[in-house]
Amino acid sequence: MKYLREMKETDINAVVALIEAHDEDDAEQAEKEYREMGGHFDQYVLESEGNIIGITGYITPPSCERTHWLSWTYIHPDHTNQGHGRTMLTELIDHIKAQEGRKLFIKVSDYVDEEGKAVYAIALHLYRSLGFRVEITHKDFYDEGESQHILGLRLKPEQPKFTKPEEWPVQFNSVYEIAETDDSYSFGWIDDADELFDEDDVHKGIDSVADDEGRMIFLTFPSDYLNIKEPLVAAGFRLSGTLLDYFDDGVHELHFTHKVN
Ligand SMILES: CC(C)(COP(=O)(O)OP(=O)(O)OC[C@H]1O[C@@H](n2cnc3c(N)ncnc32)[C@H](O)[C@@H]1OP(=O)(O)O)[C@@H](O)C(=O)NCCC(=O)NCCS
Repeated sequence: MKYLREMKETDINAVVALIEAHDEDDAEQAEKEYREMGGHFDQYVLESEGNIIGITGYITPPSCERTHWLSWTYIHPDHTNQGHGRTMLTELIDHIKAQEGRKLFIKVSDYVDEEGKAVYAIALHLYRSLGFRVEITHKDFYDEGESQHILGLRLKPEQPKFTKPEEWPVQFNSVYEIAETDDSYSFGWIDDADELFDEDDVHKGIDSVADDEGRMIFLTFPSDYLNIKEPLVAAGFRLSGTLLDYFDDGVHELHFTHKVN
């Protein structure tokens, strides 16, 4: 790589300080990921005169075929608007392509601060200009009035193939608040239970979120799982969007939403 170098464990303090210069909450969350989850692998720093001025990288979700998510991406405030962000991301995308990456996704909030500034508008502009397209917008995801855009970028031409849909015995096994949100929940699930969940099972999950005073529920399933949509819709969920070719070419990720309160 010409501009970026691999992040090392000894870079964690400098990287956290760089993120903190923009956002304390993100810095805290990033530090946890870098330290506790060994998350500095596949992360890259940008240096100028011996100082770290940029951080970017990617994570690779399980059960997917060469799909990646862009991770913490920041340029130090003293160095923004000088072309570093574009240079950094262009090199990272080329690197992921060279690793045979197939699709790259990124989540962006539409948060507007007290002064009326759309905090992530520049990032969104940069991602779009690099070819990312909004695939899903989750309204009120982070909080009432703060939505989440999920953008996707194809890195390799699609290789159409047929995956036979199958009925998986999916059952819910937990209810949890989604990190970085205020009162948005999801259900944990397994797909090796005795039988597929029904409408009553979905209602039990919704009731449990309502007891916790949750606001919204967001659920995702692979598009080749048969018969999951009907009980969800019967219990009040709606199909709110699709991440195309998320698991593999032709196998998408279906997103379902239910407003609780
Ligand atoms: C988003 C971020 C990484 C971009 O890095 P950067 O080095 O400032 O970006 P660049 O200088 O390469 O500029 C990229 C584009 O944004 C525009 N831009 C950058 N800063 C800008 C500013 N302050 N005002 C208006 N436009 C700006 C540039 O004009 C350029 O657009 P163009 O190429 O179409 O002319 C950086 O601003 C940052 O760290 N922001 C805070 C954290 C953040 O939002 N991270 C993403 C979370 S999802």
